[in-house]
Amino acid sequence: MNIKTIGVLTSGGDAPGMNACLRAVTRSAIYEGWKVYGIYRGWEGLINGDIKEFTTESVSNIIQRGGTILKTARSEEFRTPEGRAKAYENIKKYKIDALIVIGGNGSLSGAFLLAKEHDVPVIGLPGTIDNDLYGTDSTIGYDTALNTIVECVDKIRDTASAHDRIFFVEVMGRDAGFLAQNSAIASGAEAAIIPEDKTDIDQLATFIERGIRKSKNSSIVIVSEKDGGAMHYAERVRTEYPQFGVRVSILGYLQRGGKPSAYDRILASRLGVASVEALNEGQRNIMVGVKNDQIVYVPIAKAVKIDKPIDRELINVLAILSI
Ligand code: F6P
Repeated sequence: MNIKTIGVLTSGGDAPGMNACLRAVTRSAIYEGWKVYGIYRGWEGLINGDIKEFTTESVSNIIQRGGTILKTARSEEFRTPEGRAKAYENIKKYKIDALIVIGGNGSLSGAFLLAKEHDVPVIGLPGTIDNDLYGTDSTIGYDTALNTIVECVDKIRDTASAHDRIFFVEVMGRDAGFLAQNSAIASGAEAAIIPEDKTDIDQLATFIERGIRKSKNSSIVIVSEKDGGAMHYAERVRTEYPQFGVRVSILGYLQRGGKPSAYDRILASRLGVASVEALNEGQRNIMVGVKNDQIVYVPIAKAVKIDKPIDRELINVLAILSI
């Protein structure tokens, strides 16, 4: 495939490191002598023609910034075949030979459908704090969000300890428990409730009671946002164990923002460069990821359709260390 022009967009929830990735894609494509179009507001911009040519300067001074200068959206219209057909019209209009899509599960699923219906070469790059894409050890934004959560839990622990309280801290992750499980380990929490490991409430309460009776006067439980989140578990413990002081803290959108960590900036830069190399090699309809610190290509269909398993060893580590 002889590429002359690419389009790049960020889509779905913003994630720290998306800008670093956009910078890497833009600069490495220009390095190859290609023309680069920045497509604004994700798929919405492709449908509406919100598209501008990018130069190396367009991506100056953004490596350290959270969010995405291209802006992002969750496009309802792109979910329909008609919306994707409109997007394809703009791909033809701007003579875009291939698209690079930085986003999470929903965004890459959209890329898969576009590629299938309109024969557009697409490369996906995993950009989401949830870390829920199969085939890559880490997604852009996950490390930063994890560090943000740990910083918050360290602070919450001061209050938990001062007042002898049980805190249920709710974190993001959509259907995946990576943020919850690993932030629990990193912050020394007593338990994590994650979708991959359905914790029975009675087991949880027994565990908390045993923990408190044994040596601790306070507990921190990290709860994934799924299935009622922290409120649900706090209510159960309040009803069944009224002797405990229970509080809830929902961390919310502060987990998505902020400067990307060094790890995310490096990951984003590597993946951005690798996406251009992949196109040069004639690859299409793949997601570029990292496995054991090596760049890997994963068919987009696999990346979005297969559930990424959580390492059971992590569950064991937390259980042992929280006695
Ligand atoms: O996918 C990233 C994420 O932050 C999830 O963790 C969360 O469930 C969701 O996005 C929230 O989406 P929105 O920004 O549309 O409210």
